[in-house]
Amino acid sequence: MDKIRKVKGTQDILPGESEKWLYLEGKVRAVMQAYGYREIRTPVFESTALFSRGIGQLTDIVTKEMYTFEDRGGKSNTLKPEGTAPVIRAYLENGMANLRPVQKLYYISPMFRQENPQAGRFRQFHQFGAELIGVPGPLADVETILLALDIYKSVGLSSFKVKLNSVGDQNCRAKYKQVLSSFLEPKLAALCKSCQTRFASNPMRILDCKKPPCQSAVEGAPKMIDYLDEASATHFKEVCDLLDLHEISYELDSNLVRGLDYYTRTAYEIISDDLGSQNALCGGGRYDLLAEELGGRTTPSVGFAAGIERLLMVLASQDLLQDLASRNDVFIVALGEEAVRHGQRLSRSLRQVGLKVDLDFLGRSLKAQLKEANRTQTKYVIIIGESELEKRVAILRNLNDSEQREVAFDVLVDTCTSIFQD
Ligand code: HAM
Repeated sequence: MDKIRKVKGTQDILPGESEKWLYLEGKVRAVMQAYGYREIRTPVFESTALFSRGIGQLTDIVTKEMYTFEDRGGKSNTLKPEGTAPVIRAYLENGMANLRPVQKLYYISPMFRQENPQAGRFRQFHQFGAELIGVPGPLADVETILLALDIYKSVGLSSFKVKLNSVGDQNCRAKYKQVLSSFLEPKLAALCKSCQTRFASNPMRILDCKKPPCQSAVEGAPKMIDYLDEASATHFKEVCDLLDLHEISYELDSNLVRGLDYYTRTAYEIISDDLGSQNALCGGGRYDLLAEELGGRTTPSVGFAAGIERLLMVLASQDLLQDLASRNDVFIVALGEEAVRHGQRLSRSLRQVGLKVDLDFLGRSLKAQLKEANRTQTKYVIIIGESELEKRVAILRNLNDSEQREVAFDVLVDTCTSIFQD
């Protein structure tokens, strides 16, 4: 029979790798908490309408990339392609505005997009993200940028670039779209097929198409920041001033548009030169109209999401993920039936005092059991054979320096506890 294989674009995270995920998730949680963000967990699937309305009917995600299925009752559901729309849905549905005027929420979650898999681009991938809900002013925008940067710093990453733009709001964007369309119209035939379609639906998306003909077509295009109304222009200037205050360097990028339609005003990305063409580590911005789009009250909000796989790739390329494998403290080598029974009881006592303990299941020889202990980089072995049983002692061997001594059964747990306390 054919072997069943994992679905294209998904990954198994095996032991050896999973320690890296745990380490990273721990760092993310610690920095999120330091900034006062609390974890929210939303379902893995939602009503399809949440995403088509939230992200935008004409976006690539909604038109081409969603995993959508009908349930047995004929309702259309979708595996979440991103976390912001679900967080705002949960915020509205659970009346979270009444609990605190400002909500600071974070998540670590798998996301699903049917994209063409390549390095750094998967169909099931994972994001950590933060949403700061209920603050209209630029302090919030900047806090989310600082938060993302401090997470990267906490794992030792220093080589990244912050790209910043303002995509305005509905007032100024309509005017800008007209100007941009007039600029692009004569070049329409040179654009890629997707951008020819985007020209009618959302010409701003053409600005960040990575295809060379589109990139040359947008050279010299009018810039959104030159068309901001006064309120959006002031907001953008204050964001820049606050970043200066925090001594964060950033690059203004008038072609940064983002692939989701809910953004208003601030849009940003953090990119790494250590990733190939999928160089965005993190993307975010302000989305003041999303709550209304989802049937709630106007709720100014800003946030970001960051790819975990991409961050792990960068950390690995910079050797920042060394020696995270979890090692056992003790391996019990028991030889003979009676010793195995003793080893069983001992293993529980040692685990109950907090030690990481493993033992043999296969009745292997002394040599094979020691080999196993070495392979798993265990720190100590406890050897119990017939003669040890008779003397009611065990041999305690340090695998680092091969020093060993006999320890009486009654003080074995205490001896091990004090060794591992130091
Ligand atoms: P996004 O730019 O679509 O934004 O995704 C954010 C990050 O997720 C990307 O910068 C990238 O690191 C990672 N990512 C996206 N797609 C993939 C993929 N197929 N494979 C691997 N990694 C991927 C959002 O999702 C917004 N919800 C961000 C946000 C939060 N805006 C406001 N709040």
